[in-house]
Amino acid sequence: MHAITIPEPGGPEALVWDEVPDPVAGEGEVLVDVVATAVNRADILQRQGFYDPPPGTSPYPGLECSGRVAEIGPGVSGWAVGDEVCALLSGGGYAEKVAVPAGQLLPVPEGIAVDRAAGLPEVVCTVWSNVFMVAHLRPGETFLVHGGSSGIGTMAIQLAKAVGAKVAVTAGTREKLERCAELGADVLINYREQDFVAELREATGGKGADVILDNMGAKYLDRNVQALAVNGRLVIIGMQGGVKGELNIGALLAKRAAITATTLRARPVEEKAAIVAAVREHVWPLVSGGHVRPVIDREIPMPDAAQAHRIVEDSSHIGKVLLVTPS
Ligand SMILES: NC(=O)c1ccc[n+]([C@@H]2O[C@H](COP(=O)([O-])OP(=O)(O)OC[C@H]3O[C@@H](n4cnc5c(N)ncnc54)[C@H](OP(=O)(O)O)[C@@H]3O)[C@@H](O)[C@H]2O)c1
Repeated sequence: MHAITIPEPGGPEALVWDEVPDPVAGEGEVLVDVVATAVNRADILQRQGFYDPPPGTSPYPGLECSGRVAEIGPGVSGWAVGDEVCALLSGGGYAEKVAVPAGQLLPVPEGIAVDRAAGLPEVVCTVWSNVFMVAHLRPGETFLVHGGSSGIGTMAIQLAKAVGAKVAVTAGTREKLERCAELGADVLINYREQDFVAELREATGGKGADVILDNMGAKYLDRNVQALAVNGRLVIIGMQGGVKGELNIGALLAKRAAITATTLRARPVEEKAAIVAAVREHVWPLVSGGHVRPVIDREIPMPDAAQAHRIVEDSSHIGKVLLVTPS
């Protein structure tokens, strides 16, 4: 098969479409003929040499894919050759074939084309596990997501609205904020021109956000704590603003607030399977029912992965950028 390899870490040109050995479906795994994968920020870090794949996983980038089941490994039931699926991966999505633990497979939801389903697993699993399984966002609560037009943001807005939360977003341009509003966001904050703490206070009568999903890490730590409501929950999933910050513990105590930080890729197979099962139960009916949809910026042929990385690094996209295998 062909896959995107990274012979030497570096810029987008480090991504090379090359012939490599086919993967094999091991015990408890399914082999998928990949139709599409999606670019995640983690792939850029992997390309640059800052985020090695977990031990025992594929060396190729790609944390999600969609496609068709090609082969069933030993000990797997419930799937058949030819099934249209999408999957959460620990790596290996930028390839014509990938071996996936069966617990990380999902059927392509009703009404969604198989290629577009590649834009769902990583964002849905990340948002569901953090905003709902960890932070327990409830109907009527206020939810702030930073980077509202990102892959994660576009899904977080839709899922939070689907459960009846009030949604605030930050983004860097008016056009991106407008797209967030189309997805249901109620409070639109341009992080280049406005202070999100002040804007959120005004929008909530001084109360603040019950749950914040943060991509910035250190840079926003202090202001995120300021923006939290009493009993608020801050979940950090990204470090785009650095890794070391100063925490005002007094402010956290006074608010009886909680801070959690998680990463999906490094979790054991069983934990990923539990998240995927929860997503299938709670989110898939919303997708099939047309309440939640993948937001796809564009599709690019997989051999041109470098072009897709440039787009995501420039942040000129809204939602997900897909890489489609050549037919
Ligand atoms: N921990 C996990 O398991 C996990 C899983 C998936 C993703 N993530 C993280 O989640 C984040 C989003 O991922 P993605 O793939 O959806 O990324 P993405 O589409 O590349 O989006 C990155 C976002 O960051 C926003 N941003 C940049 N500077 C900002 C600032 N000062 N304030 C607020 N927002 C700012 C950008 O907004 P503008 O374009 O408007 O500037 C953009 O929306 C990334 O940090 C990623 O690493 C974590």
